[in-house]
Amino acid sequence: MLTVQGLTRCFGQVRAVDGISFEVRDGEIFGLLGPNGAGKTTTISMISGVLAPDAGQVLVDGVDIWERPKQVKRMLGVVPQEVAVYEDLTGRDNLVFWASLYGLKGADRRRAIDEALERVGLADRADDRVRDYSGGMKRRLNLSMGLIHAPKFLLLDEPTVGIDPQARLAILDVVREVARGGTTVLYTTHYMDEAEKLCDRMAIIDRGEILASGTLDELTRLAGEGDVLRVSGSFGAEDLRGKIAGIDGVEISRIGDGFALLSVVPEGPGLAQLLPRLLDGEAGIDDVSIQRSNLESVFIALTGRALRD
Ligand SMILES: Nc1ncnc2c1ncn2[C@@H]1O[C@H](COP(=O)(O)OP(=O)(O)OP(=O)(O)O)[C@@H](O)[C@H]1O
Ligand SMILES: [Mg+2]
Repeated sequence: MLTVQGLTRCFGQVRAVDGISFEVRDGEIFGLLGPNGAGKTTTISMISGVLAPDAGQVLVDGVDIWERPKQVKRMLGVVPQEVAVYEDLTGRDNLVFWASLYGLKGADRRRAIDEALERVGLADRADDRVRDYSGGMKRRLNLSMGLIHAPKFLLLDEPTVGIDPQARLAILDVVREVARGGTTVLYTTHYMDEAEKLCDRMAIIDRGEILASGTLDELTRLAGEGDVLRVSGSFGAEDLRGKIAGIDGVEISRIGDGFALLSVVPEGPGLAQLLPRLLDGEAGIDDVSIQRSNLESVFIALTGRALRD
């Protein structure tokens, strides 16, 4: 189990991580979901022992990483947000270098490297120089480096940023498989769909604080039972407000000129009254979409902002 208690880190006036606590249970994939600047990387850096906290504790199987760094670091695999590979070396030689840092030698090292390459689907490109890899391949190599010593805990910091959807799916599959093999995973992301599809439990982090945590079901309940209606076009906020006024079961979650998010009670009469008013052709509305309550509505309910702002 990985336990974070009251973890805090400031940079000058910025409270990058402000007294956060959570637990990652054995065998689960735990997500840390938050927008840019939320404090995800700062958190991962403190858990992995590369950045000293101002306050708080990180316990890995009950052992404080800052008291016994050597013992604890052996249990951790870390996949940093910035890809950290040597472009002039081959994929395999990057792994040889990395495996050696963990004291792996000879046949054990060869086996570990072959397994890691196989796992991330790079076996056939292992002897090409990394310089010639695609962005997705570099990301996969970065991931294999975190796996090379078969860590008990894997910490992944936004491992799918900047790559195409197919490469993204490949990485998510590897993470799932690693978790199925018994490794406990801490996964940071700003993609709601990744957190929804991948994580057993998650915490929503914003401006250095954890706003809520739990399973997807537990979290979506926080946003209420309403469906989310997303409206966009060239309308003015006040005009739209006027159109919505007085309809039962419809609430404004967020509104601006040309954009609104509404919460609508499912199967209530509100939607039937609302839609004709929105779609009368003169309302300046180009697009209306409806979705069930999801992590984005939770984030809006908790912060008043959209996650992608
Ligand atoms: N070394 C540093 N020096 C000064 N400020 C920092 C440093 N590292 C992080 N910060 C600040 O701390 C806050 C949290 O940053 P952090 O990198 O942890 O966020 P993040 O959630 O990882 O964001 P992103 O999704 O963009 O990677 C931000 O306001 C950032 O500017
Ligand atoms: Mg980051």
